[in-house]
Amino acid sequence: MRKLGLKTLCLFVFCAMFGYLSAQHNTENRIEEILSRMTLRQKIGQMNQVNARKPDEKLYKQIRNGEVGSILNAEDPVLLNQLQKIAVEESSLGIPVVFARDVIHGFKTIFPIPLGQAASFNPEIVETGARIAAVEASENGVRWTFAPMMDISRDPRWGRIAESFGEDTYLSEEMAIAMVRGFQGEDLSQPSSIAACAKHFIGYGAVEGGRDYNISNIPERQLRNIYLPPFERSIKETGCATIMTSFNANDGVPPSASKFLLTDLLRDEWKFDGVVVSDWASVSIMVTQGFCDDRKNAALKAANAGMEMEMVSGCYTDYLEQLVKEGKVSEKTIDNAVRNILRLKYRLGLFEKPYTDLTSERKVYSEAHLRAAKQAAEESFVLLKNQNNILPLGNKVKNVAIIGPLADAPHDQMGTWCFDGEKEHTQTPLNALKKQFGENVNFIYEQTLAFSRDRDKSRFAQAIEAAKQSDVVLLFVGEESILSGEAHSLADLDLVGVQSELLEELSKAGKPIITIVMAGRPLTIAKEMAQSSAVLYAWHPGTMGGPAIADVLFGKSYPSGKLPVTFPRYVGQIPLYYNYERIGRPAKKNEVLLNDIPLEAKQSSLGNTSYYLDAGFDALFDFGYGLSYTTFEYSDLVLSKYTLTKDETLQVSVILKNTGSHEGCEVVQLYTADVAASASPLVKELKGFKRIILKPGEQKKVIFELPIEKLAFWNTQMEKVVEPGKFEIMIGGNSVDLLKSSFVVN
Ligand code: NOJ
Repeated sequence: MRKLGLKTLCLFVFCAMFGYLSAQHNTENRIEEILSRMTLRQKIGQMNQVNARKPDEKLYKQIRNGEVGSILNAEDPVLLNQLQKIAVEESSLGIPVVFARDVIHGFKTIFPIPLGQAASFNPEIVETGARIAAVEASENGVRWTFAPMMDISRDPRWGRIAESFGEDTYLSEEMAIAMVRGFQGEDLSQPSSIAACAKHFIGYGAVEGGRDYNISNIPERQLRNIYLPPFERSIKETGCATIMTSFNANDGVPPSASKFLLTDLLRDEWKFDGVVVSDWASVSIMVTQGFCDDRKNAALKAANAGMEMEMVSGCYTDYLEQLVKEGKVSEKTIDNAVRNILRLKYRLGLFEKPYTDLTSERKVYSEAHLRAAKQAAEESFVLLKNQNNILPLGNKVKNVAIIGPLADAPHDQMGTWCFDGEKEHTQTPLNALKKQFGENVNFIYEQTLAFSRDRDKSRFAQAIEAAKQSDVVLLFVGEESILSGEAHSLADLDLVGVQSELLEELSKAGKPIITIVMAGRPLTIAKEMAQSSAVLYAWHPGTMGGPAIADVLFGKSYPSGKLPVTFPRYVGQIPLYYNYERIGRPAKKNEVLLNDIPLEAKQSSLGNTSYYLDAGFDALFDFGYGLSYTTFEYSDLVLSKYTLTKDETLQVSVILKNTGSHEGCEVVQLYTADVAASASPLVKELKGFKRIILKPGEQKKVIFELPIEKLAFWNTQMEKVVEPGKFEIMIGGNSVDLLKSSFVVN
């Protein structure tokens, strides 16, 4: 009895002291309870995210003292459990830490780079890829990823375009919410779910000249119309748990110190109750940016704006306590931040299950994961040219030359941001082609260039010889993975090294050349297009890129991707994107070009329209472009109504027919255009897309539902409105070749 009494008493004391640890307790109450027990120092500790590539005594002590809320970059599950044990069992309040890592397009099983995934126009493969990444990363104890990156990216010079979903707002929205869903799963508290992070808030994709870490100048209206929607929908529709501020000062203000962004918009307008984390030292860099005179001032501005967890730069740890004591930052501000951080930890179920189960069966590189990665790769490929239907090769060829630096580059085909992908597990095109088709085809491999930047031409002769012995050449060119991604902007988008020269030399062998480009961005490949019989843009396709490419080339599957970003002919055309604002003098495309100008011509305004004399009028490839092994015909564009009110939904249908001799998948794209509005409307905007698979000769009625409210835009009074008037509606297989109709909104 006495024993039981003591036990009950102990339980009572434990519950009174650590009631916030019990699952039954309502989360908000638990948060308040724990908050009431925290010292200011411990609260500030929660706002501190530290880097732990090499954990040491200093880190252990910090965790023990409750001075660390989150740790990034550690991924060994045994170590993570050790660190967690210190937090849970040795710190006075036992608050678990959350382990974060950049899991961008896969953890071990690497999927195509996000730009490639966007080319699939298939949110399902994006969601599946993120789910698989979450399952694999959480096996190692990582419960928070810094993805998806949803920066609208219209400048291929910017290396991080690889991490984006491209230039279009709507496509980025759809892909972003699919990725968040995949990471977070049905329930964030499941051990296999990881918190997503909508980044980079905001405008980072619009850095000047595509130079990373530069400034942007996006006015509020354009922010709201173009850049913010993926963030807003990720938060509102999928409960994206966290958001990351970007490095770039936008219109003079670094987002980490923007009260407008972090408080007025995020909290008051969007009701976000997750965590705002800074980017790597994006608080302390405000000193270098000239926005703050010292780190203390940076801490002050960031905290008061609503920036809650500081990644690595330690300004909060060093100065927040002092700032509170001086009355410059209120404890209420600190409490709000800590509430959100604790809420994230509760949502992740970390208070109940802080440790990673090291005994359960590991799923990394499982067959199902590899299969999904292969499908994602196949759907990401964009066929840019296919002269005389040279592809698929099927059984048309006996001898095939495989040439080029990216045919067998297991590291590079994974692409940027792969901390955990292992090249030993990557299946390259060379190996896959031999394995899958080697029984019937004689493959002659001649790498020629050791890597994409290689300038050594000493094996060109062997490459030409290999081409001569073959029916067809498969030339694998592009970029090494390190040429795109963070801090890897380029001013020149031609193929690097002597890859172009290799193609030129090979073309002299007189054999058809099929060029497969593996790259993290659009490259300026007009010349290479002309010298190739077919071109397949494969991005950086990930672990299963090889088998996917092999199957597509030989026709066991087919390409169906469409470009998520415009391909310029020349770098000088950038920025070049399909949904630009209407202008007063658009090019008619029959204007004078450079060589048409007579000698000693007098100053004149020539065609009086907007274009470059030396670049022609068009992009190399437009947004939404991509061929198939078959052909599709669009007809019978019909609207359910031609006059509607703002609260109605328009039904739009079109007949799609497979007019070729192969099965194919077409991405049917729906665009609208506001004919006149109170602020310059865009020439067109993507509003819907569907992937339709058809057998040869088959046809299908494709129906879109378009709620009229989706036509709303932010006007100059910063109101979101649908303005009455005429709208055009367009459907087709890319952003240019479109069937058109129109309707009126009253
Ligand atoms: C800097 C990058 O901008 C960001 O995207 C990334 O998540 C962090 N570093 C953490 O690695």
